[in-house]
Amino acid sequence: MKIAVIYGGTSAEREVSLSSGKGVIEALKKKGYEVTGIDFQGTKNCLNRIMNIDVDIFFIGLHGRLGEDGRVQGFLDLLNKPYVGSKVLGSAIAMDKARSKKLFGLNGIRIAKEKVLESYAFNEENFSHSLTYPVVVKPNHEGSTIGLTIAQNEKELLDGVKAAFKHDDVVLLEEFIAGREVTVAVLGSKGDVKALPIVEIVPKNAYYDYESKYAPGMSEHIVPAKISNELTTLLQEQAVLAHIALGCDVYSRVDFIIPHDGSAPVILEVNTLPGMTPTSLYPDACREIGLSYEDMIDTLVKLSLK
Ligand code: DAL
Ligand code: MG
Repeated sequence: MKIAVIYGGTSAEREVSLSSGKGVIEALKKKGYEVTGIDFQGTKNCLNRIMNIDVDIFFIGLHGRLGEDGRVQGFLDLLNKPYVGSKVLGSAIAMDKARSKKLFGLNGIRIAKEKVLESYAFNEENFSHSLTYPVVVKPNHEGSTIGLTIAQNEKELLDGVKAAFKHDDVVLLEEFIAGREVTVAVLGSKGDVKALPIVEIVPKNAYYDYESKYAPGMSEHIVPAKISNELTTLLQEQAVLAHIALGCDVYSRVDFIIPHDGSAPVILEVNTLPGMTPTSLYPDACREIGLSYEDMIDTLVKLSLK
């Protein structure tokens, strides 16, 4: 079978995608696919390559905007070419953290208190909010904690907002929840969607920041997370619910915080093209159910062709 892997991209997560793409390409080759890698730089040349290449399916290994957000998926739809993973709608909604949260809330999943800022309306002079510090400041459409600040006071918050606006026209402020960080891999399609064992992340740094995410040895992944059966079931149910609520398909990774105060878990976001790097979480969850990295990638392709 012939497959093209689109990776790289032009978002702030380009480096992450180069690493994911490398892993995916190697895995597909080991599985016997005829693989072409396309380092997507957003140019006409890249679009022409995608338009003209003769393959059975595309694997989108992009992260962030112009790739994870439904736009490349839409381009492939127009060309009538199949691809792995979520379609346009699920990809686009999941990339918008604030809009995703509305759907999580409607489905009874706990969300952090928030305020959404839009650059056109933001004015430092008459800005106010009612959130309790610390406040997490993040670009609304970004991944890998890029542009994120955990502000302890107003000065840090305003600096954080300015930094986040460099990445995005929409900035999300959220009350920081002190807790354990866990993530749930979701796998499946066409009515047969399941959540995999929960992964707990224990970063070496104070937070699960960019370095903790991608520098080898900078975070420990505990699979399955050492939490009660009840909590495991709840998180798995909510992960599948969130995946379906956003209209995702084939796979996603749903991030949560389990508050130290014993209250209900809080959902952070759904990632429709979760990292596939050597330090990534989705492959760890798959290994726990006996799917090697290669088998995992093969499964994603087969599910997408179903
Ligand atoms: N945004 C990164 C790639 C992740 O969620 O794994
Ligand atoms: Mg993300």
